[in-house]
Amino acid sequence: MKILSSEYFSYRNNELFCEEVPVREIVNKSGTPAYIYSRKFFQDRYRDFINAFSPVDHSVFYAVKANGNLSVIKTFVDQGSGIDVNSEGELFRGLKAGADPGKIILTGVGKSESEIRLGIEKNLLLIKAESEEEISLINRIASEMGKTADVAVRINPDVNPGTHPYISTGLAENKFGVDKSTAARLFKMKDEFSNIRFSGIDMHLGSQITSVYPYVEAVRKMSEFYFYLRDNGIKLSHFDIGGGMGIRYSSEEVFTINELAEAILPDLKKLGCRILLEPGRSLTANGGILATKVMFTKSNQLKHFLITDAAVNDLLRPSFYGAYHHIQPVVLESERKEITADIVGPVCESGDFLAKNRSIMQTFGGELLAVLAAGSYGMVMSSNYNARRRAPEIMVDGKEFYFVRSRENFEHLIYDEESLMK
Ligand code: LLP
Repeated sequence: MKILSSEYFSYRNNELFCEEVPVREIVNKSGTPAYIYSRKFFQDRYRDFINAFSPVDHSVFYAVKANGNLSVIKTFVDQGSGIDVNSEGELFRGLKAGADPGKIILTGVGKSESEIRLGIEKNLLLIKAESEEEISLINRIASEMGKTADVAVRINPDVNPGTHPYISTGLAENKFGVDKSTAARLFKMKDEFSNIRFSGIDMHLGSQITSVYPYVEAVRKMSEFYFYLRDNGIKLSHFDIGGGMGIRYSSEEVFTINELAEAILPDLKKLGCRILLEPGRSLTANGGILATKVMFTKSNQLKHFLITDAAVNDLLRPSFYGAYHHIQPVVLESERKEITADIVGPVCESGDFLAKNRSIMQTFGGELLAVLAAGSYGMVMSSNYNARRRAPEIMVDGKEFYFVRSRENFEHLIYDEESLMK
């Protein structure tokens, strides 16, 4: 089996560290399962984007949906990042984390009236509209509030991002955005929307995109459209290229942010407007692991099983998308043979697995495993299924580590049901 390591999660004397802290030391305090994050990873990746796109006027809006922990959001905000939020709840989190409303994008294919109202009330940088009806609604609400809303139109560029169908968004068959001809018609109706200021065009192709070509194609198509609008008297101040930049889960070839910038900067420069980016996964995924303990092991004539205390409710991705997360021991023992095992959790579902037919060093009950690349779409997609309390989140910062969310207690599980019990 391959052992992966990085500047942020590395082995010293055969023991996994996050930055300068042994994972074992953290787990001694937190118990398992536990999400462990490297603050330095988040900071470095944000800087990668800022440096790579420095030849153009640009801003990064961290897509909070990837990891909404307040301290994670704050890490980006402290670096100067804006945020992209997909709901009132994410907006609430972002504001709690100290994000400046003037650096917040409100996204979402189906925003409620109260979300739109809140967005206008807070004077967010922009509300991204995804349909004609939504634009009319934003206009009506803004007019009732006596305000002008900054609105961008999300355009579906109809480009194949070559990613998992569940996380592709920029194809005509996907529910996101409007097509270019609808967008053109809406922009031309701008005088009818007297409480809207159209500020830009937005796109988002999908997630975990591993090649630059979908971006190159989409930026080209969208640039043509931008110039068409300009020639028709519609002046826009930004072009938002969305997120979707892929990361390495095992050994897949993925472009670097510099390579992406190199490929699309020539077209972006020609636009002469501000470029917005909304990365989520690429800023967070490889900055986190899910630490879990092997509870039991067993074998039958067909298979070996490692039963871990992390389950599908903690990390949904393997089961939901068939996603690959590399799993390796926290302490490497020489003298151990390699086995092929299903790594499964305690939840009552056959779909409760972290990996299937995975080659891994033989591991015994009580030993720790690290599930890698769990810093995005991990904790945020977790649930309380089987009345399991959600895992704690721990941030490592050099030699120190802090709980940034504790393990839930049993009261969290029942919320107000007891007082409402009939
Ligand atoms: N902007 C918009 C409008 C989005 O819809 C998304 C993600 C992002 C930015 C950030 O995309 P990223 O850079 O993280 O790829 N749960 C799935 C991923 C869903 C992504 C949804 N939209 C997963 O676990 O793979």
